[in-house]
Amino acid sequence: MDDIGGHDILGNPVSARAPMAMLAELTHRCPLACPYCSNPVELTRVNSELSAAEWADVFQQAAAMGVLQVHLSGGEPASRRDLAEIAASARDAGLYVNLITSGIGLTQARLRDLDAAGVEHIQLSLQGIDAEMADWIGGYTGSFARKMQVAEWIGEIGFPLTLNAVVHRQNLDRLPEMIDLAERLGCRRIEVATVQFHGWADLNRRPLMPTLEQAAEARKVVNEARLRLRGRMVIDYVPADHHATFPKSCMGGWASTGINIAPDGTVLPCHAAQTIQSLEFDNIRARSLAEIWYNGRAFNAFRGTAWLPEPCASCDRREIDYGGCRCQAMALAGDPTATDPVCSRSPLNPVLKAQAQQDAVSEDVALVYRRMPKETRA
Ligand code: SF4
Ligand code: FES
Repeated sequence: MDDIGGHDILGNPVSARAPMAMLAELTHRCPLACPYCSNPVELTRVNSELSAAEWADVFQQAAAMGVLQVHLSGGEPASRRDLAEIAASARDAGLYVNLITSGIGLTQARLRDLDAAGVEHIQLSLQGIDAEMADWIGGYTGSFARKMQVAEWIGEIGFPLTLNAVVHRQNLDRLPEMIDLAERLGCRRIEVATVQFHGWADLNRRPLMPTLEQAAEARKVVNEARLRLRGRMVIDYVPADHHATFPKSCMGGWASTGINIAPDGTVLPCHAAQTIQSLEFDNIRARSLAEIWYNGRAFNAFRGTAWLPEPCASCDRREIDYGGCRCQAMALAGDPTATDPVCSRSPLNPVLKAQAQQDAVSEDVALVYRRMPKETRA
């Protein structure tokens, strides 16, 4: 299937290699209500979710294309009672199975079932370093205590564990304690990701935007901890891009290595792609995964670098960051074809930086929580 291709938004021919990883969003249901959730603001209802049998078919198709690993995610994947069955079908397809969870809804027995089903790694989210912070951010009383219990069970069973810490102005000062906690829990890795401000997080820019000082201090804390923990624990760090000089290489470039499946089977180049309303997305119930990946118009729209506008087209970093994040360009510039405004070379950057600094000193701490439509709450 290599080198089958379509055309980007300018009509340039593009080709693609097989994807390596799949994010399988099994459900948008979740007991937590984090105000920076990466799920779309329009959440998928439970009666539209793919069945376990449909997921099994998706995993077979993915493995046949060359996908190596699947991340079972949500929402909260444990909200699905058939999670172990779904995990087993991914393992049977030959995929490396990683579970991304808040821990809420997992019991010791369910974790044992997941171990038997072939889950090989777990990523546990962290909203804060104590109950007061974590329960407030997650909008769920008792979540921190439950999460720590689940972490203990994960250790007892012997799953390799990564802690996923999403950081923002309310918890960034406690980053050293988050790293210490990951160490105490025996994690092999901690991912420290600053909130990305689109979707739900865009509604919470004022309470969540880090200050410039916090962003600088976080970089220092991460660098020092990396030295101290070398050989014992890996720290992945996604800095605050509103305060950075250049954007991140989102998804390693549009439709280059990863493929996302939404709970209803919509196939996406990234988790936020549906915010780009000018694109139409195919559904796995109507078209094969390979056809969508290689020939789907949404996948080819921003593939490669030939479609890039100036200043990216003549920039020496265009093969490094591919013009930044398309969804962020949509959210901040209202144009998915624009240079990501977090780039210092974007004409919109001065306005963005001024706005970010204004948001960062706001005294507004009222959070807009992610909420499911009433009839589909977990
Ligand atoms: Fe990246 Fe474009 Fe900025 Fe260059 S101008 S650093 S390619 S976003
Ligand atoms: Fe969609 Fe970055 S989140 S391209």
